[in-house]
Amino acid sequence: MKNTVVTFKEAKVKGDKLTMLTAYDYSTAKLIDEAGVNSILVGDSLGNVVLGYEDTISVTMEDMIHHGAAVARGAKNALVVVDMPFMSYQTSVYDAVVNAGRLMKEGRAGAVKLEGGVDVCPQIKAITAAGIPVVAHLGLTPQSINAFGGHKVQGKTEDAAKKILEDAKAVELAGAFALVLECVPAKLAELVTKSISIPTIGIGAGNVCDGQVLVYQDMLGMFSDFTPKFVRKFANVGEVMTEAFKEYIKAVGDGTFPGKEHEYTLSDDVLEKLY
Ligand code: KIV
Repeated sequence: MKNTVVTFKEAKVKGDKLTMLTAYDYSTAKLIDEAGVNSILVGDSLGNVVLGYEDTISVTMEDMIHHGAAVARGAKNALVVVDMPFMSYQTSVYDAVVNAGRLMKEGRAGAVKLEGGVDVCPQIKAITAAGIPVVAHLGLTPQSINAFGGHKVQGKTEDAAKKILEDAKAVELAGAFALVLECVPAKLAELVTKSISIPTIGIGAGNVCDGQVLVYQDMLGMFSDFTPKFVRKFANVGEVMTEAFKEYIKAVGDGTFPGKEHEYTLSDDVLEKLY
């Protein structure tokens, strides 16, 4: 069944857990969609896990549109959420609406996600008013990595925790239909989840959130540059891939690939005329 913003609303009311995974291309999106996930996030983590950047800062609107459209072609039932990249919405409400519109029109997003709380509420309000559903993102917001001074758990002091709670209430009021909570203490995520009526989607935020999201390369063991504490490896696909690549190199080297079954035939009549 097709997942929409209504699915998210109903899940919170019924207490059903929501599932979200990232994807950045057509064939992975198809596999994730067929597995039955509620939502696919075309995260700007694209910068790290696909493009090989150190952070998400360099990711562009063109990158997000390109990968968003590929994922949307593979996702039949999952709600496709596309991240608004750094500086595509912080600059002004006008830029935010124009760029969210591009992600929906050209990137085929079903919803957009942006980072921040009270400060970006005018943007959330305007994008929502334009008919584009918005997912908010609080806690460790990777586009602010330079301001945080690294990948650090957020909301550990009284002031920081109060700010996240206040931001969560503000983004709900501004019109966000869901909230990603990244790298915050589980008890704070629980309080936020109980204090707002939109679903919280946690990543490193404990299991009381209304749903969970993971970067698919992390949960499949395909990305070894950095593995955060909150990741569970549900498979070791990285090892399987490396083994298969080695097998391929060996088979080509020793002449066992390609085999007869991989060849195209030419009739003897045609062959004779070539000599
Ligand atoms: O970009 C991303 O993949 C994200 C998730 C980590 C929530 O924002």
